[in-house]
Amino acid sequence: MPRVRLPITTERLVLRSFRPGDEDDVFAYRSVPSVVRYIPGEPKTREQVADLVAERATAGRIEEQSPNLTLAVELDGRVIGDVLLLLDGLGGRDGRQAEIGWVFAPDVAGRGYATEAARAITDAAFREVGVHRVWAELEPENTASSAVCERLGMRREAFFQKASWFKERWTDLAIYAIRADEWSGDQPVPTVSDELTETES
Ligand SMILES: CC(C)(COP(=O)(O)OP(=O)(O)OC[C@H]1O[C@@H](n2cnc3c(N)ncnc32)[C@H](O)[C@@H]1OP(=O)(O)O)[C@@H](O)C(=O)NCCC(=O)NCCS
Repeated sequence: MPRVRLPITTERLVLRSFRPGDEDDVFAYRSVPSVVRYIPGEPKTREQVADLVAERATAGRIEEQSPNLTLAVELDGRVIGDVLLLLDGLGGRDGRQAEIGWVFAPDVAGRGYATEAARAITDAAFREVGVHRVWAELEPENTASSAVCERLGMRREAFFQKASWFKERWTDLAIYAIRADEWSGDQPVPTVSDELTETES
């Protein structure tokens, strides 16, 4: 059975499930208007952040009914952002494709942390979950986000003009993607199982 072993440790970061105590760190970035400009929802209040951390504490488990993995990204004991893997969407319900996303605190921008965390969760998607394709949807004017995709080696596969009504305006949409057979490394990709779980190790 494929598993995502947590925490995922990279050169500088630890990716783990959210837990009580993360609220102040998450509020520091989720309450900033410029951070949520391209993601659903308004800047969060402290109460909303408390709910979000509580929800995400359980969103670390990949299950058929709730096929997503949301991980806190920790740098030296501080949660500086979060990354998301959503095993649903373009791929339907077979779990063989995954959408990824990311949100980081502005004060840590420009040091490659988002790319490092996105690379780690993408690698887990291919090597541990066994997905066939990882994709991201974004507004092309969010160039910081498209640059993360490009640093991961993702290809821009589609551009839709004024195709989404988002935050009271029509916005362009771009789709970036990379397949398992294109992902660097030569380890065989495991076969996906009907039952996907996460384990803390
Ligand atoms: C999208 C977002 C995560 C990108 O953040 P970012 O800081 O630009 O991305 P990274 O952390 O990967 O840093 C990349 C930058 O660090 C530099 N860098 C320094 N060291 C690096 C390293 N070791 N590896 C990679 N890049 C490095 C890169 O050159 C790049 O610099 P540049 O912006 O001058 O080109 C951030 O803007 C964000 O959270 N935005 C709000 C939420 C959002 O819009 N999410 C996406 C919705 S689709």
